[in-house]
Amino acid sequence: MNIAASSVLVTGGASGIGLALARRFHAAGATVAICGRREDRLAQTAAELPGLITRVCDLSRPEERRALAEWAVRGVPALNVLVNNAGVQRYPRLAEGEGDWAATAEEIAINFAAPVHLATRRRQSAGCRGKRPHRTSCRRRQVRPRQVA
Ligand SMILES: NC(=O)c1ccc[n+]([C@@H]2O[C@H](COP(=O)([O-])OP(=O)(O)OC[C@H]3O[C@@H](n4cnc5c(N)ncnc54)[C@H](OP(=O)(O)O)[C@@H]3O)[C@@H](O)[C@H]2O)c1
Repeated sequence: MNIAASSVLVTGGASGIGLALARRFHAAGATVAICGRREDRLAQTAAELPGLITRVCDLSRPEERRALAEWAVRGVPALNVLVNNAGVQRYPRLAEGEGDWAATAEEIAINFAAPVHLATRRRQSAGCRGKRPHRTSCRRRQVRPRQVA
C-alpha cells in the first residue's frame, strides 16, 4: 500500500492512539483528516501537523455520522483509508443489571454502531457499489475504500 498517496480519516485523531496514528500517516506523506468532539484539541493538532483536515463530530449521533461521511466526500480528496479509532471504555457491570443504561447505549453507539455505520455510509456517500471491497467501483471518485481498524 502506498501510504504517501493515501487519504486517511482517523476518527478520534486528536488524542491518544488516534493522534499517534495521525502523526505517523502525516509523516509518511499521506493526506490526513481527523475528527472528534473537542474543537480545541482538533485545532491544537492542526497547528502541529500542516495540512491536517479537521472536523468536529460526535460519532454517538447517527446524523453526525452521516454528515461526516457527506463532508468527507467533498472535504477529504480521494479518501481511501478509514481508521475507526474513536472509542470509550466505561466497563459497565452488565452482569449486575443495566446500571446507567444511557451511558452503556452511548458506548455501544460510539464503539460499535459508529464504525459500522461510518464505513457503510462513507461508501454510500462516495457513490460506491459492489458487495466486495476489492470490487468496489465509485461513480464520483475512482477509489477503493479500505478499513484498517
Ligand atoms: N489505550 C488502550 O489501552 C486501549 C486498549 C484497547 C482498546 N483501545 C481503544 O483504542 C481507541 C483509542 O484509545 P485511546 O487510549 O487513544 O483513547 P483516548 O485517548 O480516550 O482517545 C479516544 C478518542 O476518541 C474520540 N472520541 C471519543 N468519543 C467520541 C465521540 N462520541 N465522537 C467522536 N470522537 C470521539 C476522543 O475525542 P473527543 O473526546 O474530542 O471526542 C479521542 O480523541 C479507543 O477506541 C479505545 O477504546 C484502547
